[in-house]
Amino acid sequence: MTTSLPHSGDAGGHRPVMLREVTDVLNPRDGGIYVDATFGAGGYSRALLDAARCTVWGIDRDPDAIAAGRALADRYAGRLHLVAGRFGEMMTLLSGHGVDATDGIALDIGVSSMQIDRAERGFSFRQDGPLDMRMEKNGPSAADAVATLDERALADIIHTYGEERRARAIARAIVAARRTAPITRTLQLAEIVRRAVGGRAGDGIDPATRTFQALRIYVNDELGELDRGLVGAERLLRSGGRVAVVTFHSLEDRRVKTFLRRRSGLSPRQSRHLPERPAGTGDPAPSFRLLPANGTTPAAEEIRANPRARSARLRAAERTAHPAWPENTGMEARA
Ligand SMILES: C[S@@+](CC[C@H](N)C(=O)[O-])C[C@H]1O[C@@H](n2cnc3c(N)ncnc32)[C@H](O)[C@@H]1O
Repeated sequence: MTTSLPHSGDAGGHRPVMLREVTDVLNPRDGGIYVDATFGAGGYSRALLDAARCTVWGIDRDPDAIAAGRALADRYAGRLHLVAGRFGEMMTLLSGHGVDATDGIALDIGVSSMQIDRAERGFSFRQDGPLDMRMEKNGPSAADAVATLDERALADIIHTYGEERRARAIARAIVAARRTAPITRTLQLAEIVRRAVGGRAGDGIDPATRTFQALRIYVNDELGELDRGLVGAERLLRSGGRVAVVTFHSLEDRRVKTFLRRRSGLSPRQSRHLPERPAGTGDPAPSFRLLPANGTTPAAEEIRANPRARSARLRAAERTAHPAWPENTGMEARA
């Protein structure tokens, strides 16, 4: 079924990215069970619920998102169920509600506009707030990381999760600054990073962007969650069920791409100039089949209307009838 676009506007302050493409991939049907594993402001959930008489389980680790979603759950009473928790634990979370198999799972990775725009959540380098960044509002914060990690660990995090070339200089500046005063505010950290990077950013983005991204990914273990979420989706989807994953930077996209390609029987491509190699010998039978939408990016019109969509990429695959692979198979191929 091709779906119409029921809601193209903001969902409670967050504009859903690639909404039509995600809904088309999941292709909801009456009686189907779907998981919106990153509920946020519920943009995907609403689109699925409006497209068919289906049931949606919305998961979010942010208690504010779950609280704000109550009104939507009331509006779709009995069809939209909200669960507070991490999608990396989706099997356990859903089986606690008697759900062991689903027809579609959507993952929209990263932070929501509500999180970024609220200075008190500490995600933004543009507005002053506590240096927090915890989606779940508990556990160690970004301020704790910046206060306790040694220079080398900070540099590794900023380099790996931020893909920041000046990571060592930034880590050195952080360690020097915290000797004078604790780093507790977002603008304080942003200033330290901007000074350390100097005029070298060069690509038009704020020099603090990559460091903030890196700390956010570290504080929330976002890549670990992504890996566990993909494995959970493989186990929860019934044969013919579909997964749609939207990511916003290459670090995440590479992981999703590698996971789905490998489980679809394709080895990671060594070079784009070489022909594709056949699947690794000894791999189990493919648990997924890539869909035509796999690898697509937003239409120019969406990027014009919502600049946040510009770096988005959709990965999409359909579950085969073969069993899920042993948990760690194929993970080693990740960048
Ligand atoms: C980009 S927003 C999703 C927006 C949503 N698609 C919409 O249309 O409103 C990402 C959401 O996923 C949540 N999130 C991020 N990582 C998560 C995880 N590991 N488990 C559960 N929720 C997570 C965030 O708290 C945030 O609310």
